[in-house]
Order: sequence, then structure tokens, then C-alpha cells
Amino acid sequence: MPVMALLGLQWGDEGKGKVIDALSASVDAVVRCQGGANAGHTVIVGGVKRVLHLVPSGMLYAHVTGIIGNGVVIDANKLVEEITALGAAGHDMTGRLIVSDRAHLVMPWHKELDRAAEDARGDQKIGTTGRGIGPAYADRASRLGIQAGDFLHEERFIRLFDTQLAAKNRLLAAYGRPTLERTAAIEPLLEAGRRLKQYIRDSFVPLRDLVAARKEVILEGAQGSMLDIDHGTYPYVTSSHTHIGGLLAGCGLPARALDSVTGVVKAYCTRVGAGPFPTEELGPLGDTIRIKGGEFGATTGRPRRCGWFDAVAVKHAVETNGVDTLVVTKADILSELGEVKACTEYRLGGQAVASYPRSDDLALVEPGWRTFDGWSEDLSGLRRYDDLPQGLRRFTSFIESYTGATVGWVSTGAERSQILRRTP
Ligand code: GDP
Ligand code: IMO
Ligand code: MG
Repeated sequence: MPVMALLGLQWGDEGKGKVIDALSASVDAVVRCQGGANAGHTVIVGGVKRVLHLVPSGMLYAHVTGIIGNGVVIDANKLVEEITALGAAGHDMTGRLIVSDRAHLVMPWHKELDRAAEDARGDQKIGTTGRGIGPAYADRASRLGIQAGDFLHEERFIRLFDTQLAAKNRLLAAYGRPTLERTAAIEPLLEAGRRLKQYIRDSFVPLRDLVAARKEVILEGAQGSMLDIDHGTYPYVTSSHTHIGGLLAGCGLPARALDSVTGVVKAYCTRVGAGPFPTEELGPLGDTIRIKGGEFGATTGRPRRCGWFDAVAVKHAVETNGVDTLVVTKADILSELGEVKACTEYRLGGQAVASYPRSDDLALVEPGWRTFDGWSEDLSGLRRYDDLPQGLRRFTSFIESYTGATVGWVSTGAERSQILRRTP
């Protein structure tokens, strides 16, 4: 499938980085389209773990071209850090990383304002990653943003910076926060801009050419569909469109360029930060899954909230994204848990809910469950999809019949090699 959009269908951290890396042996380009360094995409190869925040996940393969599309918000210092660390580990980005000149920059004041807005929310905090994502997207929408392309004209960048700094310092003062000191804020940015210049250019033409040449391209979703600013659990969401429309807008490809839409789902469910989570397990089972699954944020280290698979949410995500194929990850974590459950219905005031509820109602729904026998086999060494245990096969068959999408892969461990492709 030359152009595949791959996105998370839950509340993020489904294992997108692992899956993209695993598929990238035969992929030509991977494109980040939205989000920023709030993403933490973990890739483990030969026991060596890397968490990618802005660099596309397939880039550990030297033949892969990476594109950071126009829809991404870029923390320039973080991107330089990431490129430098990858380079030191033998993954040189020179000549194969393209950063869209239209991508917006996350400025130092965006991070301060992210924290200020969280403080001001009192007991209604979202639990953001603190990476400045919301304020950066807000400035983009307000036509106040500074783009990566502005780094190419340093005088222009400085002019924009100075105008913005004065206004943002007034805002920070109004929040009762310390203001930013010019030299400390601008110098590292100018340095980062100089280091990034070689990567910054129009990204649409090279992407269009890759697609025209029928090269294998993955559009890499960040976060998950249920964190989409409109289709997620607003206001407990991120500030970008994490669903398919955001991926297309975030790289400029037309809808008809897509050959497939692949959704990644964990065999259970996690969420970081606040917001309704109908299948959350607040008792010891939630702790067991968290510990067994290593469910601690790849970006912030926060413990992830854990619960059973929410088939209602996944079906909603399959429908709103037009997902044809699913990758089920972390099935190995449910081995030996005994019974496995999935939520197949939301009930509100005793009535089955017909459409996906807004957050205030979602917080009140009572889940209806289907229970499965589970499986006890160790999946880590399996090499063929057909060798997956019966219990897990019943679970994936249920996911298919409930959501209407086909399970094409099952991931059985965190390592690159631990993924089983179903042969048609
Ligand atoms: P992403 O944001 O969707 O890329 O996911 P994260 O990297 O934030 O979180 C997924 C975590 O699960 C990482 O620690 C991965 O190394 C790990 N992981 C991914 N797939 C599997 C799997 O099938 N089994 C196990 N045990 N771990 C996995
Ligand atoms: P990946 O790509 C999980 C969550 C935050 C918070 C909300 C808003 O690794 O799956 P933000 O900083 O974006 O304004 O925070 O969204 N969040 C994620 N949760 N995985 C992510 O990315 C996330 N990116 C943001 O925890 O609840
Ligand atoms: Mg993550």
C-alpha cells in the first residue's frame, strides 16, 4: 500500500512508534503531520530503546526519508537535541530529513503559557505535557505564529520574536508568572535555527514526488483519535486534529492519495492526564496492567491510567477515520491475566447510548461488558500469526466483527521483530 496513514485510535501511546519502525524496513518515507514534542514514540531495536518526539519513527533505518510536515509544531531546541542524539548513535539525518518551512515553532513563551493556563484551570486541569502545544496552535490560529521558514531569514525571525516577546511578557505578567528575559530566550533559538537551516524547506513538492513515484510512504499520526480537538473528549484533548483529516492537512496530500488507513490499538486502554475514561480500572487490576505493560509516559514519565479495551471508542475511531486495517499491540501484556474484558456498550440513565457522548456525559456512562476466556501463552517468541493462541484469536475476531476493520498485524512485544503479519 504505497501511501498509508497510520494513527492511534485510543488516547495515545498505542505503540505507533514501534509499529512504524517495524514496517519501515520496506518503507521509503515517514511523515509527521501534527502534534509536536508532546508525542513520545518508543522504538526498541536489539534492546536499545529510543523515544522519538519530533523525528519520524522510521528514521532508524538509513534508507528512510523523514518529513516533519507543515501541521507539526516544532520545539527547535528539542529537535536539535534529538537530531544530535540520533547522530551520536549512528543515525545521521543529513540529507534525509525535511522540515517544512510552514511548520510553526513552539516558542519559550508557549511553554510558560501552557503551564500558566493549566494553573488557571484550578481543579479542571487537562494534564497537558507542558510542551507548549496548545498555546503554539492557538497562535497559529490567531495568525501570530512564527514558522520554521522564518529561521531562514534571521532578521525577520528576530523582528517577529521581539514583537511577540513584548506581548507575551505582558500576558505572563497578567497570569502572575515570571517574564522571559530576551537574551536567555532568543540566543538558544537562534543557535537552533542555524543548526536546523539545512533541513528547512518546502516539504510538499518532495512528498508529492515520492507519492507520484509510488514510493512507500507512511503518514505517522501522533497522539490518538480520542485526543482529537473535535472528535475526542473535549476539552481533555490535545490542540491538533489527530484524526485522518489532520494527517492530510498536516502534510498537504489530497484524500485520494491515500491507499490505506491503519489504526493502532492496544489490547487494553490507557490514558495520561485528565478526562473521562469509561473502562478505567482504578483498583489492583489497573496497577497490574500498568506495571506489566510499563505504562509510564514516554514523554513525561507520568503513570498512565489503565483499563480494559473500549470497543465503543475504537469503533467510533474506526468510523470517523475510515480505518480499514488494525494493528493490535501489547497483546502479550494480557497473557496470564485470566479473563479479558471489552466494553461493548455505554449506558446512560439505563438507556444504551447510540452516538459517541460528549465528555460530560461520557464521564457518567456505565460500560456494558463482554468477557473472554483469555490466554496464558507467552507470545514473545512467536513467529507466525497463525500460531497466536486461540483465546487471543477469539479476541481479535471480536474486535474485527465489532469495529468492521480487519486485524492485519498483532504486536507481541516491544522489540522491532515482535510483530506478526496476518497473511491474507
Ligand atoms: P506511541 O506513542 O503510540 O508510539 O507509544 P509509546 O511509545 O508512548 O508507548 C508504547 C509502549 O509500549 C512503549 O514502551 C513501547 O516500547 C511498548 N510496546 C509497543 N508495542 C508493544 C507490544 O506489542 N508489547 C509490549 N510489551 N510493549 C509494546
Ligand atoms: P503519543 O504521540 C498520550 C495528552 C496529554 C493531555 C492532553 C493534552 O506519544 O501517543 P498537550 O500537551 O498535547 O496539550 O496535552 O493530551 N497527550 C498524550 N497522551 N500520548 C501522546 O502522544 C500525547 N500527547 C498529548 O497527556 O492529557
Ligand atoms: Mg507515546
